[in-house]
Amino acid sequence: MDDTKTHAILELSGVSRKFVQAGKAVVALQKTDFTIKAGEFAAVIGPSGSGKSTFLTIAGGLQNPSSGSVSIDGVDITRLSVKELSKVRLAEVGFILQASNLVPYLTVEKQLKLIDKVTGRKEQTDAMNQLLKTLDVASLRHKYPADLSGGERQRVAIAKVLYGTSSLILADEPTASLDSSRAFEVVDLLARETRERKKATVMVTHDERLLKYCDTVYEMSDGALKKRRGHTRIA
Ligand SMILES: Nc1ncnc2c1ncn2[C@@H]1O[C@H](COP(=O)(O)OP(=O)(O)O)[C@@H](O)[C@H]1O
Ligand SMILES: [Mg+2]
Repeated sequence: MDDTKTHAILELSGVSRKFVQAGKAVVALQKTDFTIKAGEFAAVIGPSGSGKSTFLTIAGGLQNPSSGSVSIDGVDITRLSVKELSKVRLAEVGFILQASNLVPYLTVEKQLKLIDKVTGRKEQTDAMNQLLKTLDVASLRHKYPADLSGGERQRVAIAKVLYGTSSLILADEPTASLDSSRAFEVVDLLARETRERKKATVMVTHDERLLKYCDTVYEMSDGALKKRRGHTRIA
């Protein structure tokens, strides 16, 4: 059987994270198992301070867990050297973070073209133009991040990740500075790209209205991640 299209892109096994705050141990993430497959769009919802960002940054190798292992495309990233880890992150993980992932000294267009340079890929001009148009940032292509609004920066960050080749997309509140009609459009696009290009996307959100686009929904509460039962995608 050919299962290359449905293999686990991200797998967390027994992952937890503790912090020390004012001399007291805080469990930001309780022991967590999590799997997402190619083509799957998962949401993580939960109140502020419940551990969502901790989960997402550990999943993408931006911080280490206190226990457990994290595999991306079958590679246990908790065993890698700093150098090997940054290679995997660059090749496999597209981050859409609250603090945007844009390079300050590059124009919008050059942010995207940088991906082709780094990966040695031929420029995908049609795909680039289509993405910039869909995210309504085509007219901003020669501007720098500092000249964009928060919502524009967020949309460029999304264009950049979707233009990239990463198999795993980790998005932390990607619609936070978008109005609601724009938020629906952007999440619909994320959902479609995930499915069509067989990526795996984890989106942290606190907006219940966006869950209809997702295949699976997880609820985070006091550092405990639970799958919501009976959820079905309706968009
Ligand atoms: N670097 C850190 N140092 C100390 N405590 C932290 C750190 N990062 C997160 N925490 C704590 O872990 C808990 C979960 O935080 P976070 O993952 O940011 O939640 P969320 O993204 O759901 O708002 C909170 O109690 C927060 O204060
Ligand atoms: Mg957060």
